[in-house]
Amino acid sequence: MADKKNVQPLYQGPGRSTFSGRLGFVLSAAGSAVGLGNIWRFPYLAAKYGGGIFLLVYLILMLTFGYTMIMAETALGRMTKKSPVGAYQHFGKTGFLKFGGWINAIIPILIVPYYSVIGGWVLKYLFEYVIGNTQAVAADGYFGGFITQAAPVELFFVLFSLANIVTIYMGVQNGIERVSKAMMPLLVILAIFVAAYSVTRPGAMEGVKYFLVPNFEHFSWMTVVSAMGQMFYSLSIAMGILVTFGSYMKNELDVEKSTTQVEIFDTGIAILAGLMIIPAVFAFNGGDPNTLKAGPSLMFITLPQVFASMGLGRLGGIMFFLLVLFAALTSAIALTESAVSTFEDELGWDRKKASIMMGVVIIGLGTLSTFGYSIWSSFTIIGMQILDFFDFLTNSVMMPIAAFCNCVLIVKVITLVRLDAEIEQSSEFKRKPIFHICIRYVAPLFTAIILASSVASAFGLLTL
Ligand code: PFF
Repeated sequence: MADKKNVQPLYQGPGRSTFSGRLGFVLSAAGSAVGLGNIWRFPYLAAKYGGGIFLLVYLILMLTFGYTMIMAETALGRMTKKSPVGAYQHFGKTGFLKFGGWINAIIPILIVPYYSVIGGWVLKYLFEYVIGNTQAVAADGYFGGFITQAAPVELFFVLFSLANIVTIYMGVQNGIERVSKAMMPLLVILAIFVAAYSVTRPGAMEGVKYFLVPNFEHFSWMTVVSAMGQMFYSLSIAMGILVTFGSYMKNELDVEKSTTQVEIFDTGIAILAGLMIIPAVFAFNGGDPNTLKAGPSLMFITLPQVFASMGLGRLGGIMFFLLVLFAALTSAIALTESAVSTFEDELGWDRKKASIMMGVVIIGLGTLSTFGYSIWSSFTIIGMQILDFFDFLTNSVMMPIAAFCNCVLIVKVITLVRLDAEIEQSSEFKRKPIFHICIRYVAPLFTAIILASSVASAFGLLTL
């Protein structure tokens, strides 16, 4: 079997990897979507930009803009049976088609290394809770002290990356699908437990109200802009993943139903994460506005303080960081698969070679991010540390451009008639009118707003 290397075509048709069925696609795509974005980013943005009103705006955007983007990418993948570069060039070799494909393909290659560094931080916290250091991780300066040490950060980052690469090497059904099928249900159970733990702490109900009940006085333009950016991040839009996963989807699967389930999964976990973190902050210090606005450090600094001050904190910490680890790992796997699929399709490499190459890229670029916070901390690019720069470059600049290209590809090149036919080949297309309005007008406009506002905020012209 091993020497049949070049016998089957890598690109299309029967030789291409596939998911076993809808559950495989849904859990793998949900695994890609549910990540650090849901558990670490969503709660702090919701806390900062108005609680219930942020949630309401987020839900409206999810049902319109978000739904459209994930449908479009999945259908594009299924239609062409290619990862992004091939999917674009299926329609010709113009400059736009080359650019659009490659920008979608390069994004995951740049994201996964720094994302895995943060995955390593999560693994470290889990390890500390397992060995019983519940108080130590809550001590002042612990987080800052940890991320500025090169060797331990590198160790946990490498461990996280190995788990990722081994899964990728095992293939679509044996690796990605199997890991997602095992981890995603567990993740839901853990999320329900941790949220239940949090909302039952004394004083937590005020937090539940703040998070769930919309108060229009808290509404601002920034609520919309930040919810838009978050939805984009959370659904793993414009990073080649959904095109790639769509290409592994069998033609008879219902695209709309599958993507709707991914949407429900992703939003459900984000809401549970909000219920874990925001009420815990209220129980801990009555919802002090400064704590609520703590931003990115909410998960690594505030939450450990909450766990340390409450009963069952060690168990809470283990469950919480295990849940975050699963979420981060399945997302890193999806990002890596998107890159590996491009190497296979465009360079004709086999999975082994492509997986090893991605391993080298992850360790190489990720090490730059690790060192950027420690031994090279004086080195900055446009005022940012290396990790933050990669995050800015991909999320704030490249992803909105890639998503904009996806809209243009579908409306101008493929045409909606052909895209509708692709979707209707296997099912009804119930939300077609919403899809058409969004892909033509709403999504291009919103991606432009995300690009403009995040670049303006990076240069200090706007406070996001
Ligand atoms: N959607 C995933 C998350 O919310 O964490 C994965 C992801 C999104 C990874 C955005 C990286 C990224 F820049």
